[in-house]
Amino acid sequence: MLVAIGSDHGGFRLKEEIKKYLTKNGVAFSDFGTDSTESVDYPAIARDIAKAVADGQCQRGIIVCGTGIGVSIAANKIKGIRAALCHDEFSAEMSRAHNDANVLTMGERVIGVGLALAIVDKWLSTQFEGGRHAKRVAMLAELEN
Ligand code: RB5
Repeated sequence: MLVAIGSDHGGFRLKEEIKKYLTKNGVAFSDFGTDSTESVDYPAIARDIAKAVADGQCQRGIIVCGTGIGVSIAANKIKGIRAALCHDEFSAEMSRAHNDANVLTMGERVIGVGLALAIVDKWLSTQFEGGRHAKRVAMLAELEN
């Protein structure tokens, strides 16, 4: 699995912590920026990551901004993307098990590093349950047309 990861300036520090965590745990990732805390526009970074996931270049995406909200809105505008804004482990688990979320978004200004890394761990390790949820995910795709 290759994870596309990125942030705007508001999520840069947490993005770097997540990269360290992924490296430590042997998870391959591709960094889409940004590279500093200098102000950048979050929709462009969210778009690039969402497209990489939608195209199959990467299997999952993780995007961080100040709140996680802007990048979530942006990523969900790309066809094939199911981005979930999660600030607790239960939501992260359910976003995978029930919604087959392929992008995780978080806000650096909302949660601490420890919780964010626990969320990443839960989100990456939880499988989609399929079954009755597969029909509902297919219905989500129909909404894109
Ligand atoms: C940047 O100041 C902030 O607006 C951005 O990181 C994000 O929180 C937007 O949703």
